[in-house]
Amino acid sequence: MKIAFFELEEWEKDYIQQNLKEWQLEFIDGTLTRETAAKAKYCDAAAVFIYSKIDKAVLEKLPKLKFIATMSTGYDHIDVVAAKKRKVTVSNVPTYGENTVAEHTFALILALSRKIAESAERTRHGDFTLEGLRGFDLKGKTIGVIGTGHIGMHVIRIAKGFEMNVVAFDVKKELAAAKKLGFKYADFDSLLQKSDIITLHCPYNKATHHLINNGNIGKVKKGAMLINTARGGLVETRALLRALDNGTIVAAGLDVLEEECNIKEEKQLLSKDFEKECDLKTMLGNHMLLNHKNVIITPHNAFNSKEALVRILSMTIENIKAFEKKKPINIVS
Ligand code: NAI
Repeated sequence: MKIAFFELEEWEKDYIQQNLKEWQLEFIDGTLTRETAAKAKYCDAAAVFIYSKIDKAVLEKLPKLKFIATMSTGYDHIDVVAAKKRKVTVSNVPTYGENTVAEHTFALILALSRKIAESAERTRHGDFTLEGLRGFDLKGKTIGVIGTGHIGMHVIRIAKGFEMNVVAFDVKKELAAAKKLGFKYADFDSLLQKSDIITLHCPYNKATHHLINNGNIGKVKKGAMLINTARGGLVETRALLRALDNGTIVAAGLDVLEEECNIKEEKQLLSKDFEKECDLKTMLGNHMLLNHKNVIITPHNAFNSKEALVRILSMTIENIKAFEKKKPINIVS
C-alpha cells in the first residue's frame, strides 16, 4: 500500500518512517488540496490533519484512494458522504490525551493550593520568607467534576489518589464506574454547593454555553476554586470576575478562556496556519483575568505533552495497519 502523509512536522515524518518501514511512504508538505492531490495520485491511502479539506473534487483527483486516516479527533474537514459513495473508508483518533489533560488539571490545582507561582517568583528574587504562602491540603477536600468522559474520569482517578471526596455531574451517568472508583453523581446545583474545587470536563456547545454564569455562580460554596481545562465558553467571564472579587471563588486555574478563537482541535494551536488566523495574545491581553492575583492561566497547553502527540501518530499507524489487514478500526465513515 502506498500512503501519502500531509501536514507533518519533521519529527513526525521521522516517527512515521521508523514505524512504517514496510510501506511505501510519500511525505507531501502542506495540506491536501485540489492542487496538491496530483502528487498523491498513485496513493491508496492519505493521512491528513484538519487543514486538508477533502471534498468530492479532491476525491476525484485520487482515483486509487481507498482509505483516509485523519490525525485528529474531529473529521468535519472530510466530506464523509462523498467518501462513502467512493468506497473510501475514513478513520480518526478518538482520544489521545485523557491523562495528559487530567495531569494538567492537577498541575493547576496544586499550583493554586500550594501557591507555587508566587513562591517561585519570590525565591527567584532571593526572598525565602513564607509570609502569605500558606496553602491547603487536597486530602479530605471535595472535588466536583463536571463531565465524566475520558478526561473527567481520569481526573477522578487522580483525585482518589489524593484521598479527595469526589462528586460528579454529567448528563449521562456512568454508574458502574462510579461504583468502581468510589464517587457519587449529584445534581448540578448541589455539586456547586458541596465542592471545594470545581473542575470542568464537558464539551462546549449551545447547551453548555456559560454553564457557570451570573445566575448560578452565587450557589458555589464560598471560598471554592474553579478549574477550566475544557473550553472558555463554559464560564461567563464577567461572572467569574465578580465571584473572584466578592470571595465566592478564591482562586481559578484556567487553560482556556472565552474569545479564544474557534478552536476545534488542540493540535491546531501548534500549526503555523492557526497563528495566521488568530492572535491569541491580543485577545488574552483584553482579559482582566490575566492580571488577577488569584488566577493562574496557561495558554491552552493542557494537551501539549510529547507523549500525547506521539499517541496521535501511533494511533494513526494502528488505523492504517488495521485497514490493511481488512479489520479497520476507529471508522467514522
Ligand atoms: P468526552 O466526550 O470523553 O467527555 C465529555 C463528557 O461530558 C461526556 O461524559 C458527556 O456526557 C459530558 N457532557 C456533555 N454535555 C454535558 C453537560 N451539559 N453537562 C455535563 N456533562 C456533559 O470528552 P473528553 O475527551 O473527556 O474531553 C472533555 C473536553 O475537554 C472536550 O470537550 C474539550 O473541550 C476539552 N479538551 C481540552 C484540551 C486542552 O488542551 N485544554 C484537550 C482535549 C480536550
